[in-house]
Amino acid sequence: MLNDHIEKILIGEDEIAAKVMELGKEVSADYADKDLVIVNVLRGGVIFVSDLIRKMSIPVTVDFMAISSYGPSTESSGVVRVIKDLEENIHDRHVLVVEDIIDTGLTLGYLLKNLSSREPASLSVCVLLDKSARRILDNLPIKYKGFDVPDAFVVGYGLDYRQKYRNLPYIGILKKSIYDFDLKDQLT
Ligand code: PRP
Repeated sequence: MLNDHIEKILIGEDEIAAKVMELGKEVSADYADKDLVIVNVLRGGVIFVSDLIRKMSIPVTVDFMAISSYGPSTESSGVVRVIKDLEENIHDRHVLVVEDIIDTGLTLGYLLKNLSSREPASLSVCVLLDKSARRILDNLPIKYKGFDVPDAFVVGYGLDYRQKYRNLPYIGILKKSIYDFDLKDQLT
């Protein structure tokens, strides 16, 4: 079972739900009467954004981008390629990027540069998890933040390990034996 692969639950379902509710209210108040486009980054952010928009009380447009980073899959290189671009024109509109996690910040840095070249009316970030211990790029315009997380292997609520565990309803720390086992597997 999936739960058996988890060392410890870091943030439970109820705690996530309360935070998402709070963030939804805040975003709604700040963007009332504004033309808001939420830009979500596939794939990890889909769970968070789908919950977040349902806690928002203002009209909102949602669009998606998919990017892929070059280099080893476990490390962010900051050199990314757009796999799927936005369908919306964001010129002169208020853009809120919704991400599941910021780690080194390199992915977000690239994304913000890319989006700002399209001249939106404003560009801000809402992130559920902030793993600031690994930050390389600072001064990111993070307007809304859910939780700070330690430098541990977190999965669930959208976050994956080798494309699995995204469907866990909570955020947990993956057991070391799982990825150690996979590492051995790759060497043989
Ligand atoms: C995760 C996350 C961010 C990025 C953060 O995506 O959704 O986009 O990593 O890392 P960084 O701050 O070090 O750049 P990932 O590449 O794992 O893809 P996924 O969303 O499909 O899981």
